[in-house]
Amino acid sequence: MPPEAASRSAPVYLDHHATTPLDERVLEAMLPYLREEFGNAASRTHAYGWRAEAAVEHARERLADLLGARDPAEIVFTSGATESNNLAILGLFEAEPGRRHGITVATEHPSVLDPFRALARRGLALDVLEVDGEGFVSPDAIARALRDETLLVSVMAANNEIGAVQPIREIAALCRERGVAFHCDAAQAAGKLELATARDGIDLLSLTGHKLYGPKGIGLLVVRKHGRPRLRLEPRQYGGGHEGGLRSGTLPVASIVGLARALELCLAEREAEATRLAALRDRLHAELAAALPGRVLLNGPRDARLPGNLNVSFTDVDGDRLIADLQGIAVSSGSACSSALPEPSPVLLALGRSPALARASLRFGLGRGTTHDHVGKAVASVVAAIALQSSAA
Ligand SMILES: Cc1ncc(COP(=O)(O)O)c(C=O)c1O
Repeated sequence: MPPEAASRSAPVYLDHHATTPLDERVLEAMLPYLREEFGNAASRTHAYGWRAEAAVEHARERLADLLGARDPAEIVFTSGATESNNLAILGLFEAEPGRRHGITVATEHPSVLDPFRALARRGLALDVLEVDGEGFVSPDAIARALRDETLLVSVMAANNEIGAVQPIREIAALCRERGVAFHCDAAQAAGKLELATARDGIDLLSLTGHKLYGPKGIGLLVVRKHGRPRLRLEPRQYGGGHEGGLRSGTLPVASIVGLARALELCLAEREAEATRLAALRDRLHAELAAALPGRVLLNGPRDARLPGNLNVSFTDVDGDRLIADLQGIAVSSGSACSSALPEPSPVLLALGRSPALARASLRFGLGRGTTHDHVGKAVASVVAAIALQSSAA
């Protein structure tokens, strides 16, 4: 291939924590509901509506089953994990004005931290717990922070930058013992880790379609219906009373069908894909470390981490130049969700990294399309970009 064609060809996509491509099999399941089956699932007077409603309810049952929920009515469709997180946190505190204390963790996604901070500005007592050097929050720290008036603890299942998998079951059990609701942002974990809301004691669980090879603009919140403590949520938007009155708005039938198909495929292929991705990820790490001896620092844990995640900092590297000089690969430095901010990643700072090392970091998100060849290209690209800085120095 001539060099100008090579430079014009699409970069190797290694940013699967930011988003994933739509799987063809998901698109196929969706297409009928974008074409002939275009009915409104709330239309009660004709077959277009009945068939759309049947598709939504079938997807709801399937999702409840895949997520280990007790009841399909626990599934509330939303536009994605940002909305689910906001609905869980703001909706719960608004419905229970008597209990004014919440607990979360410094490395949560902004769609969890910011609703809590907004409530704190209105008088909520808030504990934002620190993590250790690998990114884990300790269940003991949560136990110590719990108070009589604590209403909600929110801890993500897996981190979007460093892939750290939190001890969710232990934390959920603690909350259950103390009669405190437990919310889990599973945007990065769903379809990749084993999660079952009823078994794991998760009262509220958020996920989103576009991180699991499904469509963008669709997500869900699992809201436990049975058992104690009783959960009440105040809606964030009002209207036709869809989704049990919790989230009004005409349902995007094709996207809902796609979300169910996407999660089904992820879970069916989960174990084999985890093994494949972890091997590619470990090879990427080993080859970077061998090419840049002593200069590659792993951010996040070695073991309890998402199989497709590698996050590393490079010593003596200008992070802004590194990202500008990288050719032929699409990766992220810090979280894509907040990459509009030029500041170093708060997640890496929370691990104890210096601002310079946090800036000189790359997040590789390996996924379904990633091959050995891609890993080789990524290593070559990073080594070449860093060599440019050394030669200029
Ligand atoms: C952990 C986590 N939570 C929430 C979100 C927001 O999800 P959505 O894009 O569906 O709003 C993201 C997206 O990057 C995420 O990684």
